[in-house]
Amino acid sequence: GRVAVLMGGRSAEREISLQSGQAVLAALRSSGVDAHPFDTGKKQLAALSDEQFDRVYIALHGRFGEDGTVQGALELMNIPYTGSGVMASALAMDKWRTKLLWQAVGINSPRSMLLNEQSDFDQVAQSLGLPLIIKPAREGSTIGLSKIKHADDLAEAYRKAAEHDSLVLAEAFVAGTELTAAIIGETTLPLVRIEVAGELYDYEAKYLSDDTRYFCPCGLPKEQISAIQVQALKAYQTLGCEGWGRIDLILSEDGQYYFLEANTSPGMTSHSLVPMAARTAGISFEDLVLKILSLSHV
Ligand code: DAL
Ligand code: MG
Repeated sequence: GRVAVLMGGRSAEREISLQSGQAVLAALRSSGVDAHPFDTGKKQLAALSDEQFDRVYIALHGRFGEDGTVQGALELMNIPYTGSGVMASALAMDKWRTKLLWQAVGINSPRSMLLNEQSDFDQVAQSLGLPLIIKPAREGSTIGLSKIKHADDLAEAYRKAAEHDSLVLAEAFVAGTELTAAIIGETTLPLVRIEVAGELYDYEAKYLSDDTRYFCPCGLPKEQISAIQVQALKAYQTLGCEGWGRIDLILSEDGQYYFLEANTSPGMTSHSLVPMAARTAGISFEDLVLKILSLSHV
């Protein structure tokens, strides 16, 4: 059947999504799939029915794509799509509510608080400690995120995050090793360890820098890897994620795991993490994309 690769869209991660979408499109076509690009930032979703698509591959990131809205529209249109359903997509987009659910099942996450105009920033800094991460609760690719070391910088970091979302989160910064767990179906792929040259795995380090280093296999002891994989799958299933996704976490200097967030439509660009983990597991990019397509939400 005909497959539409949804890409672009209207979120702040539009440019990344176009890269993911083009990579996915090329992989599907090279596997003989009748795939076509579909930019939801330019075309009404309703055109999917008119153009008789049988299935949708979601390569959108962020709002109006990864957050349950597009998933809901596709449910109504009765078109199968890749990845998580409406509820899990919406929950995973919201880092605050993700943490609340994880807390309920004993998955450790950095301590955090929601901020608003009336927040007493000095008290926030005192209660969570410094440094702090300030971020929009529903964004991706670390857009609008700041790391602050002084309480005086909190107000500006709050304003910056609030430009992107009415929900702003302050989170205790955890020093340690940044790791990610890609999940395909119910299988956790080899972990990827990320080493940044600067202070943060931010937009620059993710997409622009040549100095960010990735390790897969991650080099941790086997037992530790297994323990993290089990927890990551639990984190994924707690939110009700399906198909595929990626769970980001920090292994702190004292050996504790701190789960940060779930991504229900992770990046699929040439230097994205899920394709990297798949490669270590012996799965080519083409096979990864076909597998994700085969796990579509019907
Ligand atoms: N939000 C970006 C695309 C990621 O998680 O890979
Ligand atoms: Mg994310």
